[in-house]
Amino acid sequence: MSKLIVANWKANPLLQKEALDLARKTEALTAACKKTEVVVAPPFIFLPDLKPILRKVKLGAQDAFWLEGPHTGEISVLQLKKFGIEFVIIGHSERRIQLGETDEIVNEKVKAALAKGLKTILCVGETIREEGAIPEIVGVQLKTALRGVLKSQLKNLIVAYEPIWAVSSNPGAKADTPSDAHQALLFLKKKLSILYGVKEAEMVRIIYGGSVNSRNVEAYLREGKMQGVLVGQACLDPEELAKMLKIANRIP
Ligand code: PGA
Repeated sequence: MSKLIVANWKANPLLQKEALDLARKTEALTAACKKTEVVVAPPFIFLPDLKPILRKVKLGAQDAFWLEGPHTGEISVLQLKKFGIEFVIIGHSERRIQLGETDEIVNEKVKAALAKGLKTILCVGETIREEGAIPEIVGVQLKTALRGVLKSQLKNLIVAYEPIWAVSSNPGAKADTPSDAHQALLFLKKKLSILYGVKEAEMVRIIYGGSVNSRNVEAYLREGKMQGVLVGQACLDPEELAKMLKIANRIP
């Protein structure tokens, strides 16, 4: 299966022309990668600009609200769907921490996004790596986020394991080791198979995020056996992106 590279631009770049420039470069680099699926998740304001220039690259949103109507400041799952967005990131740690997004809110968003057929990237991850943190924190995040999600919807689910301490926006962040990330992957697969069955759990792609760059991406995809990566900082640099895509593209 092709590797999934999700470029999470967060609140970058500042200007429309910079966004267009980065998107064009990302598209050109992706066009050369036959075996890699690339998603760009820009700030909402750039989605209309990027849509006509992205062909091989797929468009994602960084968040979505589960309802339409009187919800000031929100963009609904249905609006994204109608606009032609294919992917959505839900429950990113920056939203959980900076905006107080709870597991219950994440659950509403995941359910709505999957119900509308969006490919839903659910982010989970512990705040500090300590004994028991993965089963206790990540396990609860996963279980709560998937409450009410049907087996038939799992084909559109992607789980991003993003230990919070590894996300570059946190002071002192350092990437997880590929072997520990792999343990987290095994835990997530096991948990999914308990919830839905072994065959169903296999349909869910597990990707890693947190300080991914061109120097460590190969290890996550090979040793960590990740089916992709969620990249923040490094995907804003076209040179880094070029290297990462080249590496991902040669990994079966
Ligand atoms: P980072 O961000 O690659 O800059 O650590 C990843 C993410 O938060 O999605």
